[in-house]
Amino acid sequence: MKITFYGHASLGIEVGGKHILVDPFITGNPLASHIDINTLRADYILLTHAHGDHILDVETIAKNTDAVIVSNAEIASYYAQREFKSHPMNHGGSWQFDFGKVKYVNAIHSSSFPDGSNGGNPGGFVIEGEHKNIYIAGDTALTMDMKLIPMRTKLDLAILPIGNNFTMDVEDAIIASDFIECDKILGYHFDTFGYIKINHEDAIRKFFDKGKDLMLIAIGESIEL
Ligand code: NI
Ligand code: MN
Repeated sequence: MKITFYGHASLGIEVGGKHILVDPFITGNPLASHIDINTLRADYILLTHAHGDHILDVETIAKNTDAVIVSNAEIASYYAQREFKSHPMNHGGSWQFDFGKVKYVNAIHSSSFPDGSNGGNPGGFVIEGEHKNIYIAGDTALTMDMKLIPMRTKLDLAILPIGNNFTMDVEDAIIASDFIECDKILGYHFDTFGYIKINHEDAIRKFFDKGKDLMLIAIGESIEL
């Protein structure tokens, strides 16, 4: 499994011979100006929730790639009404896709579309594929529901928001790492706006002091699992 960070909460995942994009918000992020969305491949676009900083580039990329949009029922139906391919899910449900199994899990946040449409309730994804399992938390507070994840899935990596203000901060993400029983964390949802700027060295050291590994990778860089 290869995971590429496209800035903010945007990820590319290569798994099982398929390309997955998560929460594409690239053209609106000055920090990601070196990423050309017209070069991105996607068989699937996974959306954690409907906020603008997670869906801005969905329609452009879905038109370019003919990708299937996977999200909660309200978001999937929003895009289905606009003639995009979609796969609706809801919390606690999972589906075996051709690249692996995806479960839509709880997040504590909000989820209206920028135009005011109902974006359902926000979530995260657990992806089980190719002997490696990951958790993409989406925008969320620390929640006890995270403790449910390791009851079903042994995680190899978790992607957690750490920017504070709209989501967990670093300290809560460290507790989340305990709840999900995964010490290997890729941080996201930081630095994009003034509200979520963080001190990278400080964040990495706080995880290190608890025996955990926080990775903060540059926009456009990848990690292999
Ligand atoms: Ni949000
Ligand atoms: Mn967000």
